[in-house]
Amino acid sequence: DQGVIIAIDGPAGVGKSTVAKRLAARLGYLYLDTGALYRAVAWKVLQSKIEPADAERVARVLGHTTLHMQFQHGAMQVLVDGQDVTAFLRTPEVTAAASVVSAIPAVREWLLPVQRQIGQRGSVVAEGRDVGTKVFPSAPVKFFLDADASVRAERRHRELVAAGHGGALEKTHQELSGRDNRDRSRAVAPLMAAADARHIDTSTLSVDEVVEHMMAAVSAVS
Ligand code: C5P
Repeated sequence: DQGVIIAIDGPAGVGKSTVAKRLAARLGYLYLDTGALYRAVAWKVLQSKIEPADAERVARVLGHTTLHMQFQHGAMQVLVDGQDVTAFLRTPEVTAAASVVSAIPAVREWLLPVQRQIGQRGSVVAEGRDVGTKVFPSAPVKFFLDADASVRAERRHRELVAAGHGGALEKTHQELSGRDNRDRSRAVAPLMAAADARHIDTSTLSVDEVVEHMMAAVSAVS
């Protein structure tokens, strides 16, 4: 039994992390950011001076890598080989490398038990690209968030500027569509909605509106 798991999937910049965190706080659930795990692998690959697309060497590096998570005050920290790397995971370099390593089947295979182990405790809001389709296929509540590409680019652009990584909006737009195309077209666990996912278009909704919508769906099930 997977306990109560709420799965949230969707493309980059759609607001998944924001609403997943808020929903988890409202429910008193754990917030599992699966993207951070792909980012942690990417961080290790870059540290090891390995080309993120080199599937063979990336797989070999995972053979001597440990990955742990810590959950505190609604946030998730990631430890790679015992080092807390959370603060390094959202740079443009790691973001780009995460998108590439996430298409490597060995990486996805390696991260599957890591994610499922967290799911075993139940009471988890898990967010990513394949959470409802692959990681927790029997999650009782699934959401697939989507939004216009231009809206997603603007949201991400504002986040980047706030974090001191600002650049041209057009570049962010291209970067997001590049990542989404890779996520949607990869052979293993591509980005897509589970058949039983509830679709929410967040283009014109506020964070509060999305969370309220989700809360209503969750209480209808539990
Ligand atoms: O969600 P986030 O942008 O942090 O994810 C970083 C990258 O990790 C994504 O671009 C995607 O390629 C990959 N990812 C994935 N499957 C997940 C979560 C993230 O492939 N469940």
